[in-house]
Amino acid sequence: MWMPDRDEGPPIYQQIADHIAQQISNGEFPPGSLLPSERKLADRFDVNRSTIVLAYSELRSLGIIISRPGSGTRVNPIHWSSEHHINWGQFVENGHFSPTPAFIRRINEALRHDQNLIDFASGELSQQLSASDELTLIMNYSSHTQHLGYDNPQGFEPLREAVAQLLQEHQQIHTTSSSLLITSGSQQSLYLITHFLLSPGDAVAIEEPSYYYSLPMFHSAGLRVYKLPAGPNGLNPDEVRRLYKKHRIKMLFINPFFQNPTGSCLSQEHRTALLNLAGELGLPIVEDDPYSLTSFDSNVPRSLKSIDTVGSVLYISSLSKIAAAGLRIGWLAAPSSVIDRLAEARQQMDFGHSIVTEAVASQFIASTYFLPHIQRLRIQLQYKRDMLIEALNKELHGLISFDVPSGGIHLWCKIIPSFQEHKLLEEAIRQGVVYVPGSVYGSDPSYVRFTFARPASEQIATGISKFAAALRTVIS
Ligand SMILES: Cc1ncc(COP(=O)(O)O)c(C=O)c1O
Repeated sequence: MWMPDRDEGPPIYQQIADHIAQQISNGEFPPGSLLPSERKLADRFDVNRSTIVLAYSELRSLGIIISRPGSGTRVNPIHWSSEHHINWGQFVENGHFSPTPAFIRRINEALRHDQNLIDFASGELSQQLSASDELTLIMNYSSHTQHLGYDNPQGFEPLREAVAQLLQEHQQIHTTSSSLLITSGSQQSLYLITHFLLSPGDAVAIEEPSYYYSLPMFHSAGLRVYKLPAGPNGLNPDEVRRLYKKHRIKMLFINPFFQNPTGSCLSQEHRTALLNLAGELGLPIVEDDPYSLTSFDSNVPRSLKSIDTVGSVLYISSLSKIAAAGLRIGWLAAPSSVIDRLAEARQQMDFGHSIVTEAVASQFIASTYFLPHIQRLRIQLQYKRDMLIEALNKELHGLISFDVPSGGIHLWCKIIPSFQEHKLLEEAIRQGVVYVPGSVYGSDPSYVRFTFARPASEQIATGISKFAAALRTVIS
């Protein structure tokens, strides 16, 4: 995030005036739009209000902005409405795009602004849990002599082979490299499916609550989204049948292992019933599974894909939650007609993934580092989950309730007294901790999600005590 340079360059008010003028000409503040108040900008740039008064008066003298008593400071509509000026602010609003929820933008901004915030919000592994050491070793020693040209958009063949082997050995999913597409994380698999296998106006069913980055994507694809409540055993197949009859849903999206955000696991009985239903109705199921390899328990249900005998399931997963999200390596296992179509879409979109990261990922998955890393990850995640539970019981006894997840990286927590979501988040940020408010997932706003994988172990107790202080402030 831009900040004025206190050590060098023009006076601070001038730097701020230049920055705002630049934002106006980039279209971040369209002609006629209201600019932030002086107090807000002073907080944002960590300066005295008088510095902003000077910056605004500089911009006023240039005719870039105008101020009227009672109606605040606005971008001058006359100065910026010359026929050569494109109003990019308005331009982008016309695109078919559903923005990220405001709470998420606020959390991301807070994390960028304050590096010391204890982070229970980001859905990823901490540096210590990730496979960064193993990946660095592979990167240092790999002698990649292949031609670095455009590759098959379906993905680097050795990586597809390594993934097929991984699926066979650890998830009992029988597939071959030709039935796999390498993607830029599970997110891209979801994007490809929603944008290229479905059409605007199609009805789809998702769980409620559901992973938040998927919600705007469904809306941006123009889909009609119907939500099915996900209880402690995942969603109920009878509810799927009812929804299918009512809205002719074209596809069902589920996250059956340690669901994001609830941490719930779909029961084996519901898995079998869902597959039978999918076969009977001809309803495709997207099984979004980034978490099953993190299971703390050896008694984990089978994936739907592994027991699907009629080919109803499109299975997606990635290295994000088990190795490193920044590698952006994911995969989709599906019938070859689907893979061929989506590989062609990939060709139109970006010509496929980078062969360099694909080569690193293939060596990592096939290496002797992989299994010990996963075993270590499970132990450490379980340890962090237990630390979180201990801290919650100590600090918030009687004020919260939750189910204990037996894998994954999230804990979904109900707050018993009533509170205002935005007040709690702002107070928590003030105290030095972030989490994700429940309404972001389309849920009842009395819930919050804590990701125990992201903060360092030694931050967990402090983070929860800060959260408890924030909660006590907003409910008192
Ligand atoms: C259920 C679920 N699906 C998909 C994703 C996307 O992950 P990635 O694209 O990093 O694989 C996430 C990330 O949080 C998730 O929780």
